[in-house]
Amino acid sequence: MTKRDEPIPFFRPSFSDEEERAVIEVLRSGWLTTGKVTLEFEREFGAFVGSPHALAVNSATSGLMLAMEAFGIGPGTKILTTPYTFASTAMSARHLGAEVVYADIEKDTYSIDPDLVEEALRRDPSIKAVVPVHIAGNLCDMDRIARAARARGAAVIEDAAHAFPSKTDSGYAGTLGDAGVFSFYATKTITTGEGGMVCVRDSDAAARISLMRSHGINRTVWDRYTSSTASWKYDVVEEGWKCNLPDILSAVGRVQLAKAERFYRERKELARRFNEGFSGVPGLALPPDGPGNAWHLYLLGLVPEELDCDRDTFASELQGAGLGISMHFIPHFELTYFRERYGLAAADFPNAHRRYLTTVSLPFWPGMTETAADRVIDTVREAAGRHRARA
Ligand SMILES: Cc1ncc(COP(=O)(O)O)c(C=O)c1O
Repeated sequence: MTKRDEPIPFFRPSFSDEEERAVIEVLRSGWLTTGKVTLEFEREFGAFVGSPHALAVNSATSGLMLAMEAFGIGPGTKILTTPYTFASTAMSARHLGAEVVYADIEKDTYSIDPDLVEEALRRDPSIKAVVPVHIAGNLCDMDRIARAARARGAAVIEDAAHAFPSKTDSGYAGTLGDAGVFSFYATKTITTGEGGMVCVRDSDAAARISLMRSHGINRTVWDRYTSSTASWKYDVVEEGWKCNLPDILSAVGRVQLAKAERFYRERKELARRFNEGFSGVPGLALPPDGPGNAWHLYLLGLVPEELDCDRDTFASELQGAGLGISMHFIPHFELTYFRERYGLAAADFPNAHRRYLTTVSLPFWPGMTETAADRVIDTVREAAGRHRARA
């Protein structure tokens, strides 16, 4: 149990001896890289989200790049996304020689504004993919985005790095567009340390991703070593990459997947507790919450008009009191590479800019004790009280 004076980390992975046993089994099996455990992980993950094809990769960044490539993104094309995301959403397009067009987020959420998606697609026919990002697991307006993209012949590739298991009446996030990419990075809702999964409906796209994630070799290693035909024979038919997920990590992923619903329930309960603790407190705003939110992160909002300090001061006081905090996200107009390449300015993205200046990610993970959760609440409320703006 977390003691009063112990730091509360931003994230703590929930592992038990089940993950340990699964890894040891793989180590003792003699087969470490992508093989039958990864095939099982892909099958189980695909069944969970209802995707006919699920392809395990070494990161969501690789997955985004592979999915974009499979849908024709490359030199001479552009992708459309929001500046309010992690670097890799845009960087994966840059790896392919494509360019990035940015649209602001909505005023009341962290999601790309569908009006601006429609406008950008109308204005620029070289946009060949829209990449909505479900920040913190709260879903973008996928119906409108998919409709707009379809009307202009653009693909929809969901950055679902935060969105497992976000779910709507139409299905799970990551299965609502042409492709969806999940992350199993160390702080994600289920984790393999590093890793990711690409979900696609189209069989040709799945075959392309499978080929390109493994050097453009036309046979998988597992097939070469288990098939009765010559194990050493293969051909390289494309200029591919090396993006496979090894069995050691897939073994962890399978155990985590089996726990995903429980983790989700625990995060939801923690979000309820935080919301109750912060509701009505001057200076604080609750995170946006829509149907099917996976609650990957708790993005506390600050109301600058009601506080006498800025976000950085507020955040550093939380840190000083032992809370592990983070910021999701530093928008791309604040990052040198993207700002300079695309001439981005904060003034062109007023909603993303305001969110950037007023958001703090609080410690948030399944398994956090009620005592620790209450200490997070008390610490934040005390800071808000200390910094309440005088009228
Ligand atoms: C929104 C978003 N997209 C993509 C990624 C990339 O994930 P990975 O670290 O698995 O490459 C992240 C990682 O934090 C993310 O937050």
